[in-house]
Amino acid sequence: MTTQNYVIDEMISAKSIAARVEALAREISEHFAGTDKLVVIGLLRGSFVFIADLVREIDLPVEVDFLEVSSYGNSTESSREVRILKDLRGEIEGRDVLVVEDIVDTGNTLSHVLAILRTRNPARLEVCALLDKPSRREVDVTARWIGFEIPDKFVVGYGIDYAQRNRNLPHIGAVRFIA
Ligand code: IMP
Ligand code: MG
Repeated sequence: MTTQNYVIDEMISAKSIAARVEALAREISEHFAGTDKLVVIGLLRGSFVFIADLVREIDLPVEVDFLEVSSYGNSTESSREVRILKDLRGEIEGRDVLVVEDIVDTGNTLSHVLAILRTRNPARLEVCALLDKPSRREVDVTARWIGFEIPDKFVVGYGIDYAQRNRNLPHIGAVRFIA
């Protein structure tokens, strides 16, 4: 794939991320305290680093599952549906479900994913997103837990890609295009 030349400006350090993940996991552990039916669902692929760090700080019995949905690309249709590319392996009926997402941008993906999961009757359904770009929101959807609110910039790292690259960066950086 050909992409424009760009550099990456560090926005959130690996150390800040680690501290925030620990705090989020503490709140999540308190919220679900006592449960023995927690399943943490990572939305592929952007959440894979975040979910790996997050579950290791959650102090509860926990199962991990993954869901992959199609992104709608740059489509500007109003009814932007998402399709399931890879479904969960397990049932979530009666379970306490925590969806882990990398970024909530327009909110379309998350709102469709939640609608799909709600039809399966989980006992509780909550969301933890690493990043939130509230200024971009088109659909009224919120995550109970947010790692960081960020401005309307295209970011990479810590699992998040630009054209499939940069997922391996340990920090979050903003992409800046250069000539
Ligand atoms: P939404 O449906 O518009 O909320 O888009 C959410 C998805 O778009 C995220 O899960 C990301 O996969 C992708 N996305 C949104 N913003 C960025 C970004 O700044 N960098 C990389 N991917 C992004
Ligand atoms: Mg995504």
